[in-house]
Amino acid sequence: MTLLDNLKWRYATKKMNGQSIPEDKLDYILEAARLAPSSSGLQPYKVIVISDRALLEKIKPIAYGQEQITDCSHLLIWIAWDGYSDERISNVFNEMMDLRNLPHDTMDAYRQKVLELYEHEGKEWQAHHAAKQSYISFGMAIATAAEQKVDATPMEGFDSEKLDELLKLREIGYKSTVILPLGYRDADNDWLINMKKYRKSKEQFVLEMSVEDAADINVSEKFNLNDLATK
Ligand SMILES: Cc1cc2nc3c(=O)[nH]c(=O)nc-3n(C[C@H](O)[C@H](O)[C@H](O)COP(=O)(O)O)c2cc1C
Repeated sequence: MTLLDNLKWRYATKKMNGQSIPEDKLDYILEAARLAPSSSGLQPYKVIVISDRALLEKIKPIAYGQEQITDCSHLLIWIAWDGYSDERISNVFNEMMDLRNLPHDTMDAYRQKVLELYEHEGKEWQAHHAAKQSYISFGMAIATAAEQKVDATPMEGFDSEKLDELLKLREIGYKSTVILPLGYRDADNDWLINMKKYRKSKEQFVLEMSVEDAADINVSEKFNLNDLATK
């Protein structure tokens, strides 16, 4: 099966059957999440893996009672830095230089530039920027789960403040960003399983643009942008 076939196969599973996924498949999905690219290679996030039933029961109400939390095999939780700091950024660059057998100061100018850029944006922007990076890893995990024929439900439907409190994330300088129950679909009881996948059409989604288009004051007409703005 091609990647596109797998992406068509997957769906945001609403009902899972409680079956466990093999450890090697879990590792494979986590490895794809680890290999995701991130801005400046900082990887300002981590993934928490939970299969402990008692902890999942505590998380379920925080995720507004969504049943996949307790019917899944493993719950993945992406957590991201609550802000950038000289220490956090320098640690990454130093490890990178060690790995590449280069002196620590090799990328000092770049490191300084990143730090200045981020410092000036403030803590809220920084946490948001780190959270955005975590979503790239999250996307990789979703696609890889599909390749492994493991079902997954991408979820933002949870109270992140409460989850951070439960998992003591504030104490370690992290915030939860997004969660992904992994498991297997309950084909007989999932209302979504036979529904057609809804996506915007290619025409609505892909806008090809040339330098002339960009300079054309009528560009909104060409792309029917007034219409597209609401689609
Ligand atoms: C970031 C994000 C958050 C989502 N949150 C939830 C959620 O909390 N609960 C849920 O059942 N589905 C959730 N979904 C699933 C989407 O509704 C679903 O991916 C979308 O409708 C497309 O359908 P498909 O994934 O079945 O192709 C979320 C998806 C994404 C990408």
